Amino acid sequence: MRGVFLVTGDGPSFALGRYVAEEAELLTIAVSPEARGRGLGRDMLQAYEEDARQQGALTSFLEVAADNVTAISLYLSEGYSESGRRKAYYTAPDGSKIDALIFEKRINHS
Ligand SMILES: CC(C)(COP(=O)(O)OP(=O)(O)OC[C@H]1O[C@@H](n2cnc3c(N)ncnc32)[C@H](O)[C@@H]1OP(=O)(O)O)[C@@H](O)C(=O)NCCC(=O)NCCS
Repeated sequence: MRGVFLVTGDGPSFALGRYVAEEAELLTIAVSPEARGRGLGRDMLQAYEEDARQQGALTSFLEVAADNVTAISLYLSEGYSESGRRKAYYTAPDGSKIDALIFEKRINHS
């Protein structure tokens, strides 16, 4: 897919982004379960933003399930804020519906 870029680091973690016309989207970010809680997720998010900035992105946005407290906590602590909500966007394994939250952040202030 055009504009897609992968970020990897030293640990078992990665982020996948997409750059389109001054906007970057964080498509996914993940740390292997046994390596969580040690800062790798934050490192991946910052590395994704740096890559996006170098490609000319001014803003970053992403979607996250409203019950993903870990990811939401990471995004809020890195300066993202909620800019929208898609009602009942995801279906949980038990069939219940979960909203998707859209978060955005300005990543280039020049
Ligand atoms: C979200 C994810 C990438 C975070 O990676 P991580 O390496 O565990 O996160 P970090 O160690 O860098 O922690 C960064 C912040 O996340 C939050 N966080 C981490 N573990 C948490 C937990 N168990 N509960 C609540 N918040 C948590 C905290 O805000 C933390 O900052 P702090 O250490 O200053 O308190 C990881 O949990 C993951 O791979 N989850 C499954 C995939 C996923 O949900 N991806 C997001 C899809 S939108």
